[in-house]
Amino acid sequence: MTPYFADAPLALIIGCGGMGTSVARALGKRHPLLIADIDAERLAETVDALTVEGYVVSGQQCDITDPVQTKALGEVLANGSGARALVHVAAVGKSIGNWRRMMEIDLLGARYVADAVGPHMVRGGAGVLISSLASYLPKADAALDTLLDDPLKPGFLDELEAYHGSPPDFDWTYNYAKLGINRLAERLAVEWGAREVRALSLSPGMIDSPMARAEGETLPAHDGSEGRKTRSDKAQEIPLGRQGLILEITKVVDFLVSDDASFLNGIDITVDGGHRAAWRQSGIISR
Ligand SMILES: NC(=O)c1ccc[n+]([C@@H]2O[C@H](COP(=O)([O-])OP(=O)(O)OC[C@H]3O[C@@H](n4cnc5c(N)ncnc54)[C@H](O)[C@@H]3O)[C@@H](O)[C@H]2O)c1
Repeated sequence: MTPYFADAPLALIIGCGGMGTSVARALGKRHPLLIADIDAERLAETVDALTVEGYVVSGQQCDITDPVQTKALGEVLANGSGARALVHVAAVGKSIGNWRRMMEIDLLGARYVADAVGPHMVRGGAGVLISSLASYLPKADAALDTLLDDPLKPGFLDELEAYHGSPPDFDWTYNYAKLGINRLAERLAVEWGAREVRALSLSPGMIDSPMARAEGETLPAHDGSEGRKTRSDKAQEIPLGRQGLILEITKVVDFLVSDDASFLNGIDITVDGGHRAAWRQSGIISR
């Protein structure tokens, strides 16, 4: 039996790791799915698994740092019924081994996706860009904001390195990229709003996910030293005293792209057990 919504506008999920697949399972109950990922094998396995479960789903291999490939995603939407939801999850951590490549994936990739997909979002649709609590770590600075707002300009990576004073380590690369994501979502909210399409970013705090585990057992201490803490010690900073679950992110994403959130637009939603609040109260961040 083909669900009645098979020809309806799609929910497009970029990145089919732990979080992207969980989000696909939730949104696929209301929308046909299109899932994109650079990893052809992971993509095929995910599409197969969801098809067997009864979802209406297709996959498209796409390296989000290649504008030709992101444009091809836009063409799929243009040739169909457009997109009702965009959830941009794809990002990498230090395991990628090169801060410039990491920035290209984590920030420039999101921009290419937004440029390609935005024109094909249908009225009432919404885009959620997955950011991170780390986006609140850079000090408020208009010069940094201006730089991050134009990541496609020639020399962007060199300018960021000069701003930082040296090649940023992977933690700082991530912090800057995710701040850029929050700012991109805010700009998209204004740009897309005229067509009654919403845009938001969502900043997970510490989530016990495959990606987080793959990044290693320690995180920066954020206590003014260069020190690091184990994940379990770091989790004690969280008022709720524990890491979050992927499902606790998925449920919020599901709400944000739904009509129940129809007047929510242009802000970052932190889903972090109160970690940001604790950081603000102890002076670790001011944003
Ligand atoms: N787990 C946490 O504690 C935590 C905390 C804050 C934010 N986040 C954010 O949540 C998201 C985590 O997603 P996840 O756990 O599903 O990660 P994941 O590593 O499981 O999945 C990321 C997916 O992105 C894909 N990808 C990588 N490079 C790509 C490219 N160039 N083009 C297309 N796809 C590409 C990978 O193949 C992978 O399938 C990320 O945006 C991450 O920054 C996670």
